[in-house]
Amino acid sequence: MFDSAAIRRIGVLTGGGDAPGLNAAIRAVALTAQRHYGWEVVGILEGYDGLLSGGPTIPLTEERVRDVLTRGGTILGAVNRGNPFRRSTPGPDGSMIHEDVSAEALVQIDELGLDALVVAGGDGTMAIAHHLVGLGARIVGVPKTIDNDLAYTDVTFGFDTAILTATEGLDRLATTAESHHRVMVMEVMGRNAGWIALMTGVAGGADAILIPEIPFDIDRVAQAIDSQRQNGRRHSLVVVAEGAHPLGGEQEYYIRGGGLMEGRLGGVGYLVGNLLADRLDAEVRVTVLGHLQRGGQPTPRDRWLASRFGNAAVHLVAEGKWGHMVALRGTQMQTVPMSEVVTGAKRVQPDSDMVRMAREMGIVFG
Ligand code: F6P
Repeated sequence: MFDSAAIRRIGVLTGGGDAPGLNAAIRAVALTAQRHYGWEVVGILEGYDGLLSGGPTIPLTEERVRDVLTRGGTILGAVNRGNPFRRSTPGPDGSMIHEDVSAEALVQIDELGLDALVVAGGDGTMAIAHHLVGLGARIVGVPKTIDNDLAYTDVTFGFDTAILTATEGLDRLATTAESHHRVMVMEVMGRNAGWIALMTGVAGGADAILIPEIPFDIDRVAQAIDSQRQNGRRHSLVVVAEGAHPLGGEQEYYIRGGGLMEGRLGGVGYLVGNLLADRLDAEVRVTVLGHLQRGGQPTPRDRWLASRFGNAAVHLVAEGKWGHMVALRGTQMQTVPMSEVVTGAKRVQPDSDMVRMAREMGIVFG
């Protein structure tokens, strides 16, 4: 049995991109660790990059976290790089050099005097944490991503805020679409998972929802929209996930990637808009919501979930459950080994009752 008396000082790090609710999670870790266990808490700035460079860190005192609950972003800063198992630096001839510097991460945890580390992040962050635990690091995980694609947890914080923003966007597009009798295409985030598109599309009354899990046939989409318009529907709403792609076609990237930067999905909304404009006797307009979905105040539900996750993660530290992530299953806080979380993403099942329900209400998926 692990003796929590061995813990005096813990660190918190946020990996990957930000998500609304991260500050609420950081606050919950800091308050629970200090008030309930009497531990000191420090925040590592700029994710794993910051850890590798040995700081800087900030003390996460009650005073420091007092007012962060309602703020979007992360007070610890976010960096989408810094994989200690594959640090990339430009070589003298401009080509990239990749090195495994994971041993340095362990040294830094030691030098910072951390008895344990709480990392909040998505699949990439959990994969790194899982491998560091394999080398002896004491790490527990908090799931976050607006995409809601992390396996073994029903939901991640950031998702509720993202679908609120996206649904509000679609509602706004609907009124102007109605005035002009237009077809409005709205592209949302979600990488290879269609959760944001699916929930926003249903909540906002979309006529078509295109998600990565169901490659689309644009002729079917156009026919469905056309027949709805023949039947009296005067405007049309199409929600497209950034990772959606045509049958037999490729995903669209607006930044190709290479070097230090991985490619960034985006642009499929314009592709769909162009293809529909060629096929329909209607005006088509395209909106890409992009990072609006990641910004702004977290919803109360995301603050609540993030607080539960942060609190539960501190208890995991007290139990010495290294290599585990907190998760929500139903209404219960549970824990799951990171080794399982990293085996695959949680994606929309094309034959699920959720997709069936949408289809039965006349929404076309292509
Ligand atoms: O994973 C979250 C996410 O917002 C994705 O939906 C999106 O593809 C990606 O991050 C964007 O990353 P960045 O902020 O680095 O452009």
